[in-house]
Amino acid sequence: GDGVFRYYSDGEWKASASGKSVPIINPTTRNTHFKVQACTQEEVNKIVESARAAQKLWAKTPLWKRAELLHRAAAVLKEHKAPIAECLVKEIAKPAKDAVTEVVRSGDLISYCAEEGVRILGEGKFLVSDSFPGNERTKYCLTSKIPLGVVLAIPPFNYPVNLAVSKIAPALIAGNSIVLKPPTQGAVAALHMVHCFHLAGFPRGLISCVTGKGSEIGDFLTMHPGVSCISFTGGDTGIAISKKAGMIPLQMELGGKDACIILEDADLDLGAANVVKGGFSYSGQRCTAVKVVLVMESVADELVEKVNAKVRKLTVGAPEDDCDITPVVTESSANFIEGLVMDAKQKGATFCQEYRREGNLIWPLLLDHVRPDMRIAWEEPFGPVLPVIRINSVEEGIHHCNASNFGLQGCVFTRDINKAILISDAMETGTVQINSAPARGPDHFPFQGLKDSGIGSQGITNSINMMTKIKSTVINLP
Ligand code: G3H
Repeated sequence: GDGVFRYYSDGEWKASASGKSVPIINPTTRNTHFKVQACTQEEVNKIVESARAAQKLWAKTPLWKRAELLHRAAAVLKEHKAPIAECLVKEIAKPAKDAVTEVVRSGDLISYCAEEGVRILGEGKFLVSDSFPGNERTKYCLTSKIPLGVVLAIPPFNYPVNLAVSKIAPALIAGNSIVLKPPTQGAVAALHMVHCFHLAGFPRGLISCVTGKGSEIGDFLTMHPGVSCISFTGGDTGIAISKKAGMIPLQMELGGKDACIILEDADLDLGAANVVKGGFSYSGQRCTAVKVVLVMESVADELVEKVNAKVRKLTVGAPEDDCDITPVVTESSANFIEGLVMDAKQKGATFCQEYRREGNLIWPLLLDHVRPDMRIAWEEPFGPVLPVIRINSVEEGIHHCNASNFGLQGCVFTRDINKAILISDAMETGTVQINSAPARGPDHFPFQGLKDSGIGSQGITNSINMMTKIKSTVINLP
């Protein structure tokens, strides 16, 4: 047709009445690679309306049947891993192998959700009244978990498939319907993923995917009275959404400044390997990336040397060639990263490698001797540049970590497990990893941020629970 990917509404692929489209720029070539529909508010209204209607029937569909459909979607998704991964390569410059991993991980997540849902939603509670003072055993209370209604899922560009599915699957197994608003970069990968749910045979209207400009439909979606829950992953926008949204449950994951604390007694090879993996995977564009290294001065030279040796081995180039470091998602992102680097340079940070940039491609850079007056000590670059701050005590490290307005994850490297646990308790973050880089997975683990890093907890079990409400029926005996 006109080369513009259609949006998905009421079980059909549609062109927007706006006649307008949104371009998706390939970060590597910086040319328009795909176009998606610029949907209108009226089209959003239609989607929410059909989502509400479909949800009513879906809530009455037996749990085992919901699970069966999800298992089917997981299988279809895995069968289509190659074309979906190809989109991730073109839309967000994810290295080819990681792109395939994202899709496979998403299939596994859907299946796990189906199984977990069957178990936890297959159980309710039975309470009796005479445990509370003044009551006889004349009231029996039966509780179970019921769906919320329409869940609005807004995933970010860095995992357009996986962080969509981590919202869609828990919502569906719990009996909710889904309105998905994918990120612009990654929208076509998301539409392909939605097509897999379509092929699996979900009822029409139960899942919809609306594309378009945030300025046109963003607030309209998040403030829509027909929406019963928002699950959002992304940046600052989440804070704005949480201020404007109605009285509905919110699940938000909004980035981090994950600290990696390295003590004198640490296995420095292990620490260096995790600093590189944690700091530079997908070119640092992960909310759980290591974003500041806090290393004890006495082992800092040795650690930095080991990290530099590994950074030298990172391949830099195109995602099609499966390079470790690939172009960052947009030009404005590259400009932002460069701004942080230049600020650090001006204020005297030591560059362990030469700063190099071509278009959106930024070569990996370790910045040593970073001090708290530099922006990069606090801000999230979301790129392949990593600051090292040398500390003289554990307390100094914990203090830096807790002075951040973020509190997603953190990690500590030491051979002393008692020390590690004390440090973990002292770090104000949702998760602390001992002797490994921060990471969300395995996907059934709880995942949550403190402070500006988010609201609520994710992970398969927590997401299913969050997307339900308790309903109780009380039997009153004579
Ligand atoms: O970007 C945020 C993701 O939730 C991080 O997931 O730890 O699997 O890369 P990950």
